[in-house]
Amino acid sequence: MQPLRIGLLGVGTVGGGTINLLQNNSSEITRRLGRQLIITHAANRNIERAKKICDPSIKITKDVFDVVNADDVDVVVELIGGTTIAKDAIIQAIKNGKHIVTANKKLLAEYGNEIFQLAAKHNVMVMFEAAVAGGIPIIKALREGLAANHIESIAGIINGTSNFILSEMRANGSTFQEALAQAQTLGYAEADPTFDIEGQDAGHKLSIISALAFGTPINFQHCYLEGISQLKSIDIGYAEELGYRIKLLGITRKTPKGIELRVHPTLLPESRLLAKVEGVMNAVSVQADMIGQTMYYGAGAGADPTASAVVADIMDVTRLQNAEASYRVPYLAFQSESLEDISILPMDDIISSYYLRVSVQDEPGVLGEIANILASESISIEALIQKGVIDQKSTEIVILTHSTQERFIKQSMQRIQALPRVLSPVTMIRMESLHRR
Ligand code: HSE
Repeated sequence: MQPLRIGLLGVGTVGGGTINLLQNNSSEITRRLGRQLIITHAANRNIERAKKICDPSIKITKDVFDVVNADDVDVVVELIGGTTIAKDAIIQAIKNGKHIVTANKKLLAEYGNEIFQLAAKHNVMVMFEAAVAGGIPIIKALREGLAANHIESIAGIINGTSNFILSEMRANGSTFQEALAQAQTLGYAEADPTFDIEGQDAGHKLSIISALAFGTPINFQHCYLEGISQLKSIDIGYAEELGYRIKLLGITRKTPKGIELRVHPTLLPESRLLAKVEGVMNAVSVQADMIGQTMYYGAGAGADPTASAVVADIMDVTRLQNAEASYRVPYLAFQSESLEDISILPMDDIISSYYLRVSVQDEPGVLGEIANILASESISIEALIQKGVIDQKSTEIVILTHSTQERFIKQSMQRIQALPRVLSPVTMIRMESLHRR
């Protein structure tokens, strides 16, 4: 059989990893596939770098359109990232009838719905395992392995940079800034880390897997994003005293009123597997009606793990390229005409439990005033600790609540902050038990 011909866009970290993987594991891949995979073209801004990495048989160019318009390319592997050149190149490649493999979560989160529509029109596959949680085959699990289930909820640590920072803050008592600097020194965080630490990267990934889980279009524009940059070491410490760890979680859940789609720091009981995921590792926990809870753990970034996902997708394309569209797994796991536009719940309507930290004057009656406010909003307290005197006059009260609607917590916080003996804005962090509701 003819080899499958690959046009590679981007010879950076993941592109280089993909080239290495295809060289190093070629016989194992051929043994599985019965066919060879060869790169015929590669586009990279830095031609010299591409020349160093690529086999001399590969045609190298600066212009992505040389690759997407080439006749001897069956599948375009887009590893440039972003939503400018990458988007134009993918659209042109689809129009040219090329199958697509991409690691580009931002592009799919923002333009995936229209890209899939175009791909359907041109009868090509768009594969994106590497876009979510790097090497972990979570897309495969959601689209295929769990296909017989109603998926109920997903909670994931899907940004390794943030998880590294939170792990450092907990283990070493570092401030956010110190832990971020450490992540940058080790190459885990970009010079501009905004996307990772403010939740956008996790939001992109969460929006994709939420759509796959519930059979909806991708809804990134309605995803709630709250990052970790405002998180204080003191809250990580108090959470630990109470038996919890704080993780940046992406959470999506189907409820009778709509879909929850949210990324934020979250207290997790330390006994949960997700709470034990440390450093740059990723993990995704999926709750489904038949199988119950399953957990997927592994490297969420890096050249080799991400290349592992990219090449597995290329192998799927190879097997299915001559199949009729109806034999392929649908782009978003469900038949496109069966996608349901289920609304995303506003944050005020979500149900969660909460961690509250309140700085108060250490005087009789303050605790009672706070407890009264929570009681009047029908919020039940699960645990409460009052820290020793912080300075001569003030102390801190830490409260864990039972589940309630977020609007009631926000109302309570406003009322608590208005108390004369409350000294600063209330700190609120959401909690998850990860039990089935
Ligand atoms: N920057 C991402 C992370 C990896 O920190 O997890 C690529 O998605």
